[in-house]
Amino acid sequence: MDKKIRLDKILSNLGYGSRRDIKKVIKNGSVKVNGEIVKDSSYKLNPYKAVIEIDDTIVEYREFIYLMMNKPKGVVSSTDDPISRTVIDLIDERYRVFDPFPVGRLDKDTEGLLIISNDGKLAHNLLSPKKHVEKKYYVEVEGYVTEDDKKIFTEGVVIDGEYKTIPAQLEIIDTDNISKVYLTIREGKFHQVKKMFKAVNKKVVYLKRVSMGRLNLDETLLPGEYRELTEEEIFLLNNS
Ligand code: URA
Repeated sequence: MDKKIRLDKILSNLGYGSRRDIKKVIKNGSVKVNGEIVKDSSYKLNPYKAVIEIDDTIVEYREFIYLMMNKPKGVVSSTDDPISRTVIDLIDERYRVFDPFPVGRLDKDTEGLLIISNDGKLAHNLLSPKKHVEKKYYVEVEGYVTEDDKKIFTEGVVIDGEYKTIPAQLEIIDTDNISKVYLTIREGKFHQVKKMFKAVNKKVVYLKRVSMGRLNLDETLLPGEYRELTEEEIFLLNNS
């Protein structure tokens, strides 16, 4: 990659402040490029090749951010919403400057694994209906989940009165008045898990996504907490 970008743009994209603030910092001689003080904000450079320092501290350049959130109930998985709080409202400004978005949707009352990134290619690969990336959910359901339900889900159920789901795996953990199961689906229709259970006359009372592709939710994250993905996790996601 040999694209040159303005120095002030690079630093503001990295969350070092507004373009205006950064212009001042550059002007006062706090910024060095390859060891030389640069006072011109419009100076263009390749951020992957040059070494930038602010007050003698090296700036780590990156174009993309990848966060894993344990989405809590009560927030919507979109970038903005006129009424509800969004998952983006929960993340720190230093990440928000990258204009991230949630990779896929979880309902307002669903918890669990949500990737938040600004990498459109990764999002496309994970969400494209053609790729059939696995999504695994922990589900609590009103009523006794049976081996019959398992068979029906494997064969496909009709939702929305017309669409037959592709094979999904149901793993029964406990069957009781409230049954506990894992359901793995390979598509992402609107309210899909809830609709699949509705098709077998059962109601989802708790829903949490535990994995997406080869990436598992870090169970040490409490609802509403998030962290950056490790290099290895990014690799797993890219190869899901
Ligand atoms: N299926 C649903 O019904 N809701 C979700 O949030 C995710 C999958």
